[in-house]
Amino acid sequence: MAAPTSSTPAAGIPTERGFGIFQLHCLSCHGNPAYEQAPSPAALRDFSPQRIYDALTSGVMKSVGDTLSETERRFVAESVSGRLLGSSAQSDARNMINQCPSPARSVAPGAAPAWNGWGADLQNSRYQVATQARLSPAQIPSLRLKWAFGLPNSTSVYGQPTVVAGRVFFGTDTGYVYALDAKSGCVYWSFMAKAGVRNAMNIGPIKGRGRARYAVYFGDLKANVYALDADSGELLWSTHVEPHYTARVTAAPALYRGRLFVPISSWEEYAARSLDYPCCSSVGNVVALDANTGRQLWKTYVIAQAPAEVGTNSKGVRQYAPAGGSIWNTPTIDVQRRTLYIGTGDSTTFPAANTSDAVMALDLMTGKVLWSVQVFENDSFLLACVGANRTDNCPKVQGPDWDIPSAPILAQLHGHRRLLLVGTKPGDILGLDPDHQGAVVWRTNVNGETAIAAGYVATPRPGVMWGGAFDGQKIYYGLTAGGGAAAVRADSGEVAWRVSLNPDALGAPKISYGAATSAIPGVAFVGGSDGSFIALSTEDGSELWRFDTRRDFDTVNRVPAHGGSIGAAGATIADGMVYVGSGYSVLGAQPGNVLLAFAAQ
Ligand code: HEC
Repeated sequence: MAAPTSSTPAAGIPTERGFGIFQLHCLSCHGNPAYEQAPSPAALRDFSPQRIYDALTSGVMKSVGDTLSETERRFVAESVSGRLLGSSAQSDARNMINQCPSPARSVAPGAAPAWNGWGADLQNSRYQVATQARLSPAQIPSLRLKWAFGLPNSTSVYGQPTVVAGRVFFGTDTGYVYALDAKSGCVYWSFMAKAGVRNAMNIGPIKGRGRARYAVYFGDLKANVYALDADSGELLWSTHVEPHYTARVTAAPALYRGRLFVPISSWEEYAARSLDYPCCSSVGNVVALDANTGRQLWKTYVIAQAPAEVGTNSKGVRQYAPAGGSIWNTPTIDVQRRTLYIGTGDSTTFPAANTSDAVMALDLMTGKVLWSVQVFENDSFLLACVGANRTDNCPKVQGPDWDIPSAPILAQLHGHRRLLLVGTKPGDILGLDPDHQGAVVWRTNVNGETAIAAGYVATPRPGVMWGGAFDGQKIYYGLTAGGGAAAVRADSGEVAWRVSLNPDALGAPKISYGAATSAIPGVAFVGGSDGSFIALSTEDGSELWRFDTRRDFDTVNRVPAHGGSIGAAGATIADGMVYVGSGYSVLGAQPGNVLLAFAAQ
């Protein structure tokens, strides 16, 4: 596994690492018709991590478990179930000491400033307007930690706080989702999903579900989507949105007018190199659900042609193609054109589908593909096929794993001009015309190189991972691989400024600022793999404030907590406060288990 620029989003979390062990040690029987009694991989996903662990240590699978190390047994149990071991009583809000005084007022969005969902708006601009931010550049230097909330048993923090109606809604790797008071951090409720929850919650109205008026919508790492009563955390409905057993919901769904648009990605590219694995058949897709009922309205696959059998590998296991095209980002909604935009990931089979590493436009009502613009060609990639130990499951030519990791931003420019702004892992930034089938208006590279286009460059280079923030003029990006941060003018694609945020020590791993950037007027917030949380001036990139989150914290719920890397999710800003999770433990980054809330003094 190389630097974050050339790695699949989210590899390396405990629940994710065990996936390779499963493919190597379990698939020869589970999913093999010769072992009829062995539960299928899909059926095993419904098991709790404890039940799988018990089977391996003292149950029917002990003979297999004995061939694994204790760490491998834990990882495989956590990976198959999608949840961490031992994450139960302690994580439940009812057992926490910081209960909010009840009864709480009903959740009524609109009553207070909000940052709802991943991108703060349908365009995924990740920009908070002044009236909602209630925080000025002049106040930034006086930001102080107001409260910290410890996440029991968490080892990787990858939820992004959603702030609505004076509450913070937050998902965790243990599968617990929390509702906290935005000002004090006291806890209203928790809910345990069937798997870890990586993304941001969307709060929206719901009808026909008893007394519930507003629901909290999100997806989990086993491809389940949920609606909870925003007041009580009670389950209103849940739907399993993709039958493939490697499917997951990584990014937050988008919510628009009673419809939920869910992006589906997959674990398949982590370890399909094992010859026991029938590689590859998982295809990224978008599912539209009725938000009131969870009923599916349409589903569109990134690759139009369904995977079909193409032969057998050297072990006689069937092989399938084409596959891949995971969607790692939240769909962007174009109300004007009634269109939805997504960025797609690499292919897992060779040759790569021409809709992999692409930006696609889908009709909002029907899911019909309107157009697709490929950003990088020939990117067939399986994580376990990097370097030596290739098998004949591996793509004939292993690609660079570029993906389109972050959501395209729909930008309104002067006049009626609009652009889709797309950031990529090797640093190419594109402006596409949403009103002309995604025609490329400009393409630049933040590293001052010529755009990379189809070329294959394996060396890590600073680029964009989880997304930028757009304030109407410029788009701001934290950059991976020691790249610091940059601002790009939306109208021309010109790099307005580029700053280095740290003196990377000679030989030390380069600090990645791959977490999604967030902005308010005059200020952009970036987070680093070293735990640094930094506010920059949008004028010139100069540093306004910095906080080191990589330390121990006293928490409002008295759960021992420490910060680590700031990864995928970015900051959210609402009503004079700034929220960020710390401890994203990907690719050797620092684990942690804390949610932090800052306010100006
Ligand atoms: C040699 C074939 C084989 C291998 C390898 C194998 N299993 Fe199994 N597994 C089975 C069979 C057969 C059953 C059903 C046993 C029964 O019900 O008596 C089973 C049952 C299970 C169960 C269900 C236990 C329960 O509580 O009902 C779990 C969990 C499980 N296996 C996990 C694993 C994991 C994890 C691995 C890899 C680390 C693995 N197995 C490897 C054949 C295998």
